[in-house]
Amino acid sequence: MVQIDIQRNKGESLSKQIYQSIVDRIRSGLLEEGSKLPSVRSLSKQLEVSLVTAVKAYKQLEQDGFATSIQGKGTFVKAKISEKKKVEAMPSYDWQLSLQDYLPRSQFSRYHIAPQKVHLSSSMIDPKLLPNRYFVHEVQQVLSENPELLSIYGNVQGDNQLRSEMSAYLKRSGVTSTPENILVTSGLQQSIDLVARTFVGPGDVVVMEAPTYPGAIDIFRGRGATILTVPVDKDGMRIDILQNVCEKHKPKVIFTIPTFHNPTGVVMSLKRRKQLLDIAGSIHCIIVEDDPCSEIYFEKKPPVTLTSMDQFGNVIYLRGLSKTIAPSCRIGILTASGSIFNRLLAAKANADLGSPLLTQKAILPLINSKRMIDHSKKLRTALKIRRDLVLDLLTSLSPEGVSWTIPEGGLNLWISLPSWIDSHLLLSEAKKQQITFLPGSACYPVGQENNHLRISYSYINEELLTHGITTLCNIFHAAISSQKISENRPNF
Ligand SMILES: Cc1ncc(COP(=O)(O)O)c(C=O)c1O
Repeated sequence: MVQIDIQRNKGESLSKQIYQSIVDRIRSGLLEEGSKLPSVRSLSKQLEVSLVTAVKAYKQLEQDGFATSIQGKGTFVKAKISEKKKVEAMPSYDWQLSLQDYLPRSQFSRYHIAPQKVHLSSSMIDPKLLPNRYFVHEVQQVLSENPELLSIYGNVQGDNQLRSEMSAYLKRSGVTSTPENILVTSGLQQSIDLVARTFVGPGDVVVMEAPTYPGAIDIFRGRGATILTVPVDKDGMRIDILQNVCEKHKPKVIFTIPTFHNPTGVVMSLKRRKQLLDIAGSIHCIIVEDDPCSEIYFEKKPPVTLTSMDQFGNVIYLRGLSKTIAPSCRIGILTASGSIFNRLLAAKANADLGSPLLTQKAILPLINSKRMIDHSKKLRTALKIRRDLVLDLLTSLSPEGVSWTIPEGGLNLWISLPSWIDSHLLLSEAKKQQITFLPGSACYPVGQENNHLRISYSYINEELLTHGITTLCNIFHAAISSQKISENRPNF
């Protein structure tokens, strides 16, 4: 895929920016003579710009002699004999673009906050449901009692007291660990990265669920892994398919989110959990159990974790606190055993010499307090109300042909539309009405499916949720009925 950089708030038209980005790449030799440019349609999808914008940029490229279109074949980079001479004199030549990066999908990175109001895309907890005020107090207290904290490095493995508290905290959810086999990380995201940089190199086989958490896809892809996928159904990862994949390809790592899976919200059954452990045990492969929100269950507690049933040290268990306490603290915990643990500890030292001490200390009094138990209960109740609201709205308003998962916990649900509908097109329409969601294709490491979307019901209040889901259902209706009338793909 050609990397094209645009910025929406740059004060320059998007078609000009697309034009300039392609010209810069041609000049820097990244796009060679004869290379095929993406089609107008895929460019507009990739950059989330209108077809008109993409066409305008390509027309300008043709006019200026940088590209040529061949009917039925596409648009190609054209040789420009006089161009080489011009390069040195061009003040707009962007040398930075000629630096190759190794970030998969870096062109999708967005560092500004989207202007949309109805964030159905944010898999985060509504700040009003988190104990922020209490934290302000704790941070102040920690600093006034122990200002030297700011002038020392913490333990690379994590603060000793925090690891003891975490061990007790994990025990409450049935995870047996000792402070010695707990590593405090800067969130789950860093935990996944540590596992990948320690154990995954070019060509190593990593199995992921399809769909899965996009942030993990990028990490494994960035390590050059060969990613194979196993589909997910209402009971989690399809173990029958995993079995075949493992027999044939002997993966090194299996990455799974067995409890309130992101993006679908489903829970892996106990039977499948046991089967997964058997398979990993028989081929000596690592299971990464990513657990961001097992505390957020609505009806019944989820089945026991894989790590609690692990007899042979196959599981690296990752537990996050961003979804229950404070994402800004960037605290997660990783447990593992034996030499796997030792090597992850070395990776942590290489990465950052330990997570910030201030937030580790601030979080200490909360972890096993009554306040935390009460807070978790309230959080479950509040999110269950929001989930129920979304389910009710979908049931009463969505058109025939639309289906969705019923999450028993967590933050997300997964909506599936008829296969000919592309959720990117629905997103463009939704954005016009200040609504965002995550298009399902972002969650597939390979063989993307475009007709799904992830809705997070955890970030916005009930009023906004009602508005958002009602509007989305109207968009679904329009997409499905336009197809019925024209028998063509809907064109918003
Ligand atoms: C499945 C999954 N893993 C990892 C993360 C990253 O979490 P953290 O904030 O702990 O880094 C998230 C965040 O949404 C997630 O959903």
